[in-house]
Amino acid sequence: MAIPRSFIENLRMSCDMENIVSSYVKLKRQGRNLAGLCPFHSEKTPSMVVYPDTQSFFCFGCGAGGDVISFIMRIENLDYVEAVKFLAQRVGMTVPEGETEDRASRMKPIILEINRLTARFYHDILKSPDGEPGRAYFAGRQLTPKTMVKYGLGYAPNTWDALRNYLKEKGFSYEQMAEAGVVNKGRSGSYYDAFRNRVMFPIIDLRKNVIGFGGRVLDDSKPKYLNTNDTLVFKKSRNLFSLNFAKNHTDGRLILAEGYMDVIAVNQAGFENVVATLGTALTPEQARLIAGYAKEVIIAYDSDGAGRKATDRAVGLLEEAGVSAKILQMRGAKDPDEYIKKFGAQRFKLLLDGAGNVTAYRLGDIRSRYDLETPEGRSGYLTEALKYLATLKSPVEREVYAGELASQTGILRETVLSNLEWEVKKNFRREKKKEWQDIASSRELYGDRVNPQRASNLSASLAEEGIIAFLFKNPDYLARILEKTGEEQFVTDFNRKLFHSLVEKLRLNGGAALSDFAGELSPEEMGRLSAIVNRDLPMTEQVLEDYIRGLEDAKCKNISKKAGELSREELLAAVRELQRKKRES
Ligand code: GTP
Ligand code: MN
Repeated sequence: MAIPRSFIENLRMSCDMENIVSSYVKLKRQGRNLAGLCPFHSEKTPSMVVYPDTQSFFCFGCGAGGDVISFIMRIENLDYVEAVKFLAQRVGMTVPEGETEDRASRMKPIILEINRLTARFYHDILKSPDGEPGRAYFAGRQLTPKTMVKYGLGYAPNTWDALRNYLKEKGFSYEQMAEAGVVNKGRSGSYYDAFRNRVMFPIIDLRKNVIGFGGRVLDDSKPKYLNTNDTLVFKKSRNLFSLNFAKNHTDGRLILAEGYMDVIAVNQAGFENVVATLGTALTPEQARLIAGYAKEVIIAYDSDGAGRKATDRAVGLLEEAGVSAKILQMRGAKDPDEYIKKFGAQRFKLLLDGAGNVTAYRLGDIRSRYDLETPEGRSGYLTEALKYLATLKSPVEREVYAGELASQTGILRETVLSNLEWEVKKNFRREKKKEWQDIASSRELYGDRVNPQRASNLSASLAEEGIIAFLFKNPDYLARILEKTGEEQFVTDFNRKLFHSLVEKLRLNGGAALSDFAGELSPEEMGRLSAIVNRDLPMTEQVLEDYIRGLEDAKCKNISKKAGELSREELLAAVRELQRKKRES
């Protein structure tokens, strides 16, 4: 699957790092570089730096880093070739034909064809006499024939081999069917239909491909829903049910329901802008996918405990993706499907329009647990509500709700406000402290999985990294550097590997970019390389000499210390150094 280096180079030049990253993360200029909230871990203050000079990024919080391809691999959850294709498509380039002809790209169209035929097979059965159980089930749930056609719903008959035989006749092998997930392989090695006696929900992507299935039992047996496992064409965490219908009708707003039946019921009631996850909780990728279509999401999950938990999680992920969340509060029904059946589409529309913002929902939730008629109740409510309000980012919002709290509890507005201020300050101190602890336990010192020898050879590693960075930025120094030092001088295996590979690339191509390493380094290793080449160190010959001598010294005299053996002062100095770098970057 070797993609020519020249193509990668062209691609890299067409994909400006700043431009690509800012389509996912809000970036702020910081001198020559840019900084933003790292999308790869959860944080409140920006630790991710984008370096236009080296066209790379590095997160000081979690160690993620690399070039534009590594960034896309991580954020879109793709492998190297897929990420290259993704970027190429984005800038209108075509990956050279034949170069990516690997097994996966041969299999994908086959799986899609199997899925398409399978969906049609189950849909045709639903309409045939054999489909009576399925039709009766859907009729019981008040789906119209029109809806069944629109969603391509189907019925998997109660046999072990109907689909298997049908697809065999169409020329597919059992192995191929199993790879599509519509047929399972038994212990004895025989193959049988994966879905039996279930009503079927085909999952259709934005290109109208059938990529997978959900199947529901007709009664109360378990498991209630079966979903296709991930395949070459189906990643549960990256798709949403019914987005193919919703995407053109969002009007900036999507309804997020919990499952297939809710989506279909809401859609049938006249709301096209509804989607659901596929048998899993909302994922960060899905939140970002949603952000591409809507600015606001109305979460319409079940009103039970599990639904509330899922709601909390979804709110967080959506907000991180820049989507504002509202929460639908249903009374008298457990989910949208039931609500529409009981009260009708018009009432549901009113409910949508009245969906409260998250703050109102949370406060209502807290309030429902206290009896405001008693002093204990009021004080308990106030305490818990203030703790929650203190976590809000907007001072205006905090003040508005503080006012409301005051009037609900009959406590002086000023008292409520000063208590709130105190909570806010407490949070601020706690966050600062945590940030400090995070840095003190930074992976650059402890628990270093990328370069486990680093902590016990700190000075040697720093020298090695200096040499690598210098050579990376000054490739014409290759010969001179090799006269004075070499990989045999390197103490840590990881840095030696980097140095070796860099030298090889320079010999071959006269220069090297981060992307050249993406094929051979893991994402974590790419992160480290990015950190090394972006460290803001003076790059003079004198400094280079110091590194080379430093490496020799460290090696000969073995003066290195384990981070764990550093004195408190030495450790603090190291931590301050890290902090200084973080500030300056
Ligand atoms: P109905 O009973 O058909 O109305 O379903 P519901 O949408 O009310 O179902 P529920 O709230 O139980 O589940 C919501 C979603 O969770 C479903 O659409 C499925 O995607 C998923 N789900 C539910 N039960 C199972 C299960 O047993 N296995 C898996 N994998 N997913 C499930
Ligand atoms: Mn339901």
